[in-house]
Amino acid sequence: MSKIIDGRKVASKLKEEMKAKIEKLKEEGKGIPGLAVVILGENPASRIYVNSKAKNCKNLGIYFKEHALPIETTEKELLNLIKVLNTKDEIDGILVQLPLPKHIDENKIIEAINPHKDVDGFHPLNLGSLMAKRAMFKPCTPYGIMELIKRYNIDLEGKDVVIIGRSSIVGKPLSIMMSNEDATVTLCHSKTKDILEKTKKADLIVVAVGIKNFLKEEMIKEGCIVIDVGINRTSEGKLCGDVDYENVFKKASLITPVPGGVGPMTTVMLLESTIDSRIYKTK
Ligand code: GUN
Repeated sequence: MSKIIDGRKVASKLKEEMKAKIEKLKEEGKGIPGLAVVILGENPASRIYVNSKAKNCKNLGIYFKEHALPIETTEKELLNLIKVLNTKDEIDGILVQLPLPKHIDENKIIEAINPHKDVDGFHPLNLGSLMAKRAMFKPCTPYGIMELIKRYNIDLEGKDVVIIGRSSIVGKPLSIMMSNEDATVTLCHSKTKDILEKTKKADLIVVAVGIKNFLKEEMIKEGCIVIDVGINRTSEGKLCGDVDYENVFKKASLITPVPGGVGPMTTVMLLESTIDSRIYKTK
């Protein structure tokens, strides 16, 4: 059996399933799902993500509206745009690409998004509901990781999970989702005293630190499941994750590659949430 958790394969299966959901909405006269993406300035990484979202929406038949605004846009102008998008029937999901420039309060912007359109799952109402397993929308990267785990029939009950990285986008929400599935979760970060002592005992490790080759073979036990959220570049410019892949691969029972692991799932989960938003709304 292959050790590789193939995110591309799962993502394309999900897209096929989504096409059927969109067809059903159309047949029932409920319109098509719509996503609005707001991007300030020209951060190259953000541009790549937004273009990928646009392409995927087009392929699936989801209405996509990009609002590319100058970097100098004020907080008030951005809040006004969100107010308009909140009321538009053709928009089921609103995503404001992060990070935002320093003169804008990110929390204020996220809180202005109608929680019923918060397909990023960052609104406090959705983050809070996650605790009670009833969030309308979940942050896309951890949601994608949970979907991979489900599709590979990995049972989290009683598993010792170590998550390295406590960001609000990945580590923190993932720790809640996994503990909701009865895993025993340890959330590590830069101030954690003895990471090695924890990783060596783990049944499953998620690494989201943004440092290449961070997780090494000697840090894990035989048969560990390894999920790599990192996106870095080698000195030759090749994409790589946070895991010393070749060496860790030998010891792991299952592992996500970079590229082709967690990455392809993130956009797809965003589209899934946008479709679900239209389904909830038109029920
Ligand atoms: N920037 C990096 N990841 C994300 C994400 O998941 N959502 C948004 N809005 N911005 C991001």
